[in-house]
Amino acid sequence: MAFTATLGDKQVRCGEDQPVLDAFLRAGVWMPNSCNQGTCGTCKLRVVNGEVDHRDSPVDTLTESERAAGLALACQARLRSNAVVEGTGGAVGRTTYALRELTGTVLEIEDMARDTRRLRLGLPEPLAFSPGQYVELTVPGTEVRRQYSLANTADEDEVLELHVRLVPGGAATEKWIFGGVAVGDRVRITGPLGDFCLSPEDESGGEPMVLIGGGTGLAPLIGLVRTALARAPEREVLLYHGVRGAADLYDLEVLTGLEEAHPGFSFVPVLSHESQREGAFCRTGFPTDSFLADVASARGWSGWLCGPPAMVEAGVKAFKRRRMAPRMIHREKFTPNDV
Ligand code: FES
Repeated sequence: MAFTATLGDKQVRCGEDQPVLDAFLRAGVWMPNSCNQGTCGTCKLRVVNGEVDHRDSPVDTLTESERAAGLALACQARLRSNAVVEGTGGAVGRTTYALRELTGTVLEIEDMARDTRRLRLGLPEPLAFSPGQYVELTVPGTEVRRQYSLANTADEDEVLELHVRLVPGGAATEKWIFGGVAVGDRVRITGPLGDFCLSPEDESGGEPMVLIGGGTGLAPLIGLVRTALARAPEREVLLYHGVRGAADLYDLEVLTGLEEAHPGFSFVPVLSHESQREGAFCRTGFPTDSFLADVASARGWSGWLCGPPAMVEAGVKAFKRRRMAPRMIHREKFTPNDV
């Protein structure tokens, strides 16, 4: 049985077991979303009338009093009647790239750094997305679904590039991407997802940006940096890549090439578990400390954080200490859920 969900002047059909968020995104109607797992709270909406089943919405993310006040997590809630909903954040309901399901083909597998692989997936037709968004893969032969950020710019829409870090024992990584994966494998891809992407103002604006990535959290930042510099080649852009050791660094040629082409762009690799080698260009310590040492004021800047939760939280604090407006701070937390 299907119901109708109404948001402003948009109406979508919502299957009995279909999350409300999924129904809106497939219809090309924007709704903020990040984790799609009920943990971040980004997709919270208000059910003005109608009934929803909250399913597995964690009480940490959606409290009892919020439920009583009519709030719901769009990525978890299923409709139990026709419903009218409204967003709790900005830009809800604008037209966006529709969520789609495609079958991709593994074109290339590359060991790019320690326990880190680059996967290139060919698509049967272009997938429209915003740089910084992610896709969900279904591991072939299973129902295991895992999320990976796109390292692409928007015009690279027929071959998706993912950076994947090995998770010991992981059903998607150890058992497939670092196990039996082969060129030619077919894989179900759902996307685009997430709101870690440039707004139209960000894209055309020339304000400075600082981006901090931990490990393979670099992937979406590469797409964002290349997009921002293509739109405003003189823009001041600072990119920090935090890793444990030099063996974890990757795409140095791409990033140093961007530095040569764009005088306003700086790339700073930071090693947390190795000391500085003689003549090496890496910093040591944590990338957020490097940012604090380099930038006296980030007022008017935008900030972008992608990596482990502790790094993201440290980055938010560092950006606020340097007077960045909270609405200019964008974050994407990686949780190693591949078990
Ligand atoms: S809680 Fe729904 S997108 Fe994160």
